[in-house]
Amino acid sequence: MLIQIIQLKKTFYDILSQAKTLEDLEKLKINFLGRHGKLTLFLRDISIYPKTERPSIGRQANQLKQAIEAEIEERVSELKKRKIEEALKKERIDVTLPAIKVPDGHLHPITKVARSIGEIFSSLGFEIVEGLEMESEYYNFDALNIPKEHPARDMWDTFWLKEPKTPIPTGRQENSKLKTQNLLLRTHTSPMQVRYMETHQPPFRIIVPGKCFRHEATDASHEHTFYQVEGLMVGKKVTLVNLKAVLEEFVKSFFGHDVKMRWRPGYFPFVEPGFEMDIACRVCKGKGCSVCKKTGWVEVVPCGMVHPNVFKAVKYDSQEWQGFAFGMGLDRIAMMKYRINDIRLFHSGDLRFLKQF
Ligand code: FA5
Repeated sequence: MLIQIIQLKKTFYDILSQAKTLEDLEKLKINFLGRHGKLTLFLRDISIYPKTERPSIGRQANQLKQAIEAEIEERVSELKKRKIEEALKKERIDVTLPAIKVPDGHLHPITKVARSIGEIFSSLGFEIVEGLEMESEYYNFDALNIPKEHPARDMWDTFWLKEPKTPIPTGRQENSKLKTQNLLLRTHTSPMQVRYMETHQPPFRIIVPGKCFRHEATDASHEHTFYQVEGLMVGKKVTLVNLKAVLEEFVKSFFGHDVKMRWRPGYFPFVEPGFEMDIACRVCKGKGCSVCKKTGWVEVVPCGMVHPNVFKAVKYDSQEWQGFAFGMGLDRIAMMKYRINDIRLFHSGDLRFLKQF
């Protein structure tokens, strides 16, 4: 082997034995194989040797080049491996360390209010039942004595649906009737009055909490999706006195005995007579604000005595049975309870709001 190549090889191995870091190895590589590296320059000047010796010298120089590359590569991967092992040693998990605390979740204010309303009515002997969010036109309107020309059937108020993928329960209706029915997202929880009466005999008392949907513009007190709690009590001697006693008991238990309330006549096609029970606005303490539309009063429980036409639809004898029904807006009750001035906050997903409850 040519003496110069032997010397280059020796120099390379001497420096390699001293290299301790990845940077040292990178420098060594450049020192021999870089553009001005020792071996690169040697190969560039190979023409100074006699023509006959050049192929052998070139072969030897290339073998050295390959050896240098292989040695450096091996040392680099060794160093990297050692580095990872050292890091892992330092990063060992201390299982005795206390865990990071995950913040506790809590119930949404609407859920809290629904539960507390459920408890009050349960204590008054009411059973809690659930209805359907997707309804037929018959249960949402016809059976409730809401005639075709009623404004609640307009596009403005009702989300009408296309064909459902699975048929919805028909109750006592014949299937042929349902086939021609329009479907919708229920605009109130009242359809469950009819469904329940179709399959149960009085006397009974029920409440029906659930989601309702209306195609209307949102503002401080209106949402397109909101909650109601329906109530229905049917028996042999149920009168307006029972209606008033039950609702006043509920309002006092829920808001406190100092709550100010008033009764006014109200129109709903499925009750006769109909009423609105209002309470003094608790957001502005009756002074007038955007929630009570500057009146100082908020309607909390629309109600009335079940209309004979509704009893007729479920084949009850209205001479024998009487009943009262109510349907309160849960969101608005929650707003009054917690003095919230905008209904849209409930589903805004703002944790600063939700963490207050
Ligand atoms: C009804 O929905 C009747 N079904 C209530 C009823 C039942 C009356 C039984 C008589 C007997 P109304 O449309 O007024 O009535 O709605 C009842 C309550 O739901 C309102 O007082 C209000 O608190 C709430 N509500 C209605 N629309 C909205 C809305 N867009 N956003 C939030 N709450 C609403």
